[in-house]
Amino acid sequence: MIHSRITGTGSYLPEKVITNFDLEKMVDTSDEWIRSRTGIERRHVAADGETTVDLAEQAARRALEAAGVAPADVDFIAFGTTTPDLVFPNCGTLLQQRLGCRGIPAFSLETACAGFMYALSIADKYVRCGESKRALVIGAETLSRITDWKDRSTAVLFADGAGAVVLEPSAQPGLLSTHLHSDGQYKDLLYCAGGVSTGIDGRLTITMAGNEVFKVAVLKLGAAVEEALAANGLDRSAITWLVPHQANIRIIQATARRLDLPMERVVVTVQDHGNTSAASVPLALDVAVRDGRIKRGDLLLLEAFGGGFTWGSALVRY
Ligand code: ACO
Repeated sequence: MIHSRITGTGSYLPEKVITNFDLEKMVDTSDEWIRSRTGIERRHVAADGETTVDLAEQAARRALEAAGVAPADVDFIAFGTTTPDLVFPNCGTLLQQRLGCRGIPAFSLETACAGFMYALSIADKYVRCGESKRALVIGAETLSRITDWKDRSTAVLFADGAGAVVLEPSAQPGLLSTHLHSDGQYKDLLYCAGGVSTGIDGRLTITMAGNEVFKVAVLKLGAAVEEALAANGLDRSAITWLVPHQANIRIIQATARRLDLPMERVVVTVQDHGNTSAASVPLALDVAVRDGRIKRGDLLLLEAFGGGFTWGSALVRY
């Protein structure tokens, strides 16, 4: 039986950093409010002209180098983003051209903060059925482009970045399971106004009912982690690391409590990255792999929740 396994991780953050103190000069807020409500201290923001695919290319090259895979040998690209460079061609195809892996299937999908989980789940299936031998999975965003920098309720949360993993076939289990969900009844709680078929009408920015999003996120993520464990017949105590979506430290703490997991076993990057949507989980994963916390053989529980609502989990033997 063929399994898929993560053989390399990579990430990239744009150089420009905006701290909470910088934001104090832009909107009516305070470092104390942002840190205590969200855990965020700083975030990275793309430079003028720097695009989602620019960030993704750096992350992809780092992941490929870690896996020992030549860019031209990638045979499948699944790219999660809600902030694409163009309406089309899609970001996966733009990245495929830059990496020089010609003619392969490459696409992007837009499931907000769950974009990487969706891309990972699809790539896993292609590897397991033998159709892909070196799949590249990306989560990358330039959310700063759809953030209203005058709206304090959202400007303090969102940020830019990219993360990537390489999936290859393995005789040993790597990805044990993925579970994906969506529920469009919540669309008015978190959305980006404006689009191609509805028209932009001068507005293309995130609107969020933060409090309501918070409550549903805690509920759905709690259920999602239970679902992942039950599907694999595993107990909570088996998890080595929780690698959660980095939206808000209080949501992360609530999920850790549900798992009875001390915060020492949770990868937290929200203080440095802010909410980078689809990039958040692969960014956090790469940070913990590179600083040596996550080791081969560890059991990882990845989860994300975002606009739609969309959400999902992956249980991974790293
Ligand atoms: N600075 C200072 N005060 C603020 C700010 C700010 N930046 N933003 C809001 N406030 C004020 C509000 O106006 C309100 O004031 P009032 O009591 O006088 O009316 C007060 O602070 C409390 O506001 P709440 O919205 O109730 O604050 P809350 O504790 O819920 O925190 C937050 C807000 C951080 C947005 C939280 O609700 C949250 O994190 N929600 C979840 C977000 C999330 O998980 N998103 C995930 C998906 S993102 C995606 O998919 C792209």
